[in-house]
Amino acid sequence: MKLGTLNLENRYVLAPMQNVTTAPYRRFCRKFQKIGLVSVPMLYCKRIENDPTSVEKDLYKIEEERPISVQLIGSDPNALKSTIDYLNSYNFDIIDLNVGCPSKRAIKAHEGGYLMKDLEKLSVLINTAVKYSSRPISLKIRVGYEKPVKIEKLAQLINNSGVSLLIVHARTVLSKFTDGTLDLDTVKHLKERVRIPIIGNGDIINPISAKHFIDYTNVDAFMIGRESMGNPIIFSQIHEYLVKNKEVSFKNNKESMEKYVKIYESTIDEFLNGISHPIGNELIKFVELKRNAIWLSKNIDGSTKIRNLLSKTKDLKSLKELLSNYFNSKFY
Ligand SMILES: Cc1cc2nc3c(=O)[nH]c(=O)nc-3n(C[C@H](O)[C@H](O)[C@H](O)COP(=O)(O)O)c2cc1C
Repeated sequence: MKLGTLNLENRYVLAPMQNVTTAPYRRFCRKFQKIGLVSVPMLYCKRIENDPTSVEKDLYKIEEERPISVQLIGSDPNALKSTIDYLNSYNFDIIDLNVGCPSKRAIKAHEGGYLMKDLEKLSVLINTAVKYSSRPISLKIRVGYEKPVKIEKLAQLINNSGVSLLIVHARTVLSKFTDGTLDLDTVKHLKERVRIPIIGNGDIINPISAKHFIDYTNVDAFMIGRESMGNPIIFSQIHEYLVKNKEVSFKNNKESMEKYVKIYESTIDEFLNGISHPIGNELIKFVELKRNAIWLSKNIDGSTKIRNLLSKTKDLKSLKELLSNYFNSKFY
């Protein structure tokens, strides 16, 4: 997929997810399938304007992860400009504007999903981003705020804006993340009217749903978020199916969990090598390994007990002891 001078190797995109798609997580997902684009989850422009160093911890070794975008959330054009200036030295491939976050905080601050009901404000922010960024700009939107957006109006705004890529989560802002509320028709109609590539997103959980999304809407690529939590091979399952018509199952058992936990641990070690993280390397490793071990256990029969125990661990040593006991069948 070509975006100006940037060529994405394939149409698989990992969604930005705060406290999930961290640097180790993005690297981990890329170990099982090439992924055309990953993203640093949303950074707050106001926070960066006040103290740019506050986000340094989120941007270690970014240059090793390309192609990568960074997502920004904000409502103040001046804060957006200073953020873009600050991020210039990091050479991100894309700057992505968050136009979908449904949190109370975002709506109250007139940013994120709120912008779906204030297209004039959105237009000012886009103009600022396009004017001051040397990188392509993408938008991650929803299909509307409460109801589907007026497609002609949004398409016209986007087509005249200089934005290079549109990502559409196929739900309204008020639908948050509720299952069963996907609106593929609006995505399809946007695709018919917008002259830039579109990435579709929402509830893609297996090869069948990926194929259905693409076939129905004709989007150029798709983005996956939650399904990747605990299923690191989701992109490869979809690739094998779409390209080779092969079905690959994901094994939900202790052996496969052990394998993936080991790979996750070595991915964290690779990332932390040579870094002295302000949060503390051991703490980062503990937090990363703990939540991913919990996700990786989620589909294993009878795994509720281990998940409860994992969630109660307080440090790396006890976490590793627990995992080792579990994998060596000391209980269950
Ligand atoms: C824990 C969590 C954090 C998220 N953080 C962000 C974020 O920082 N920026 C964003 O645009 N979307 C965020 N999202 C939304 C996802 O990027 C994605 O649009 C949504 O989960 C739908 O895709 P899925 O059905 O594949 O999960 C987040 C979602 C979750 C579950």
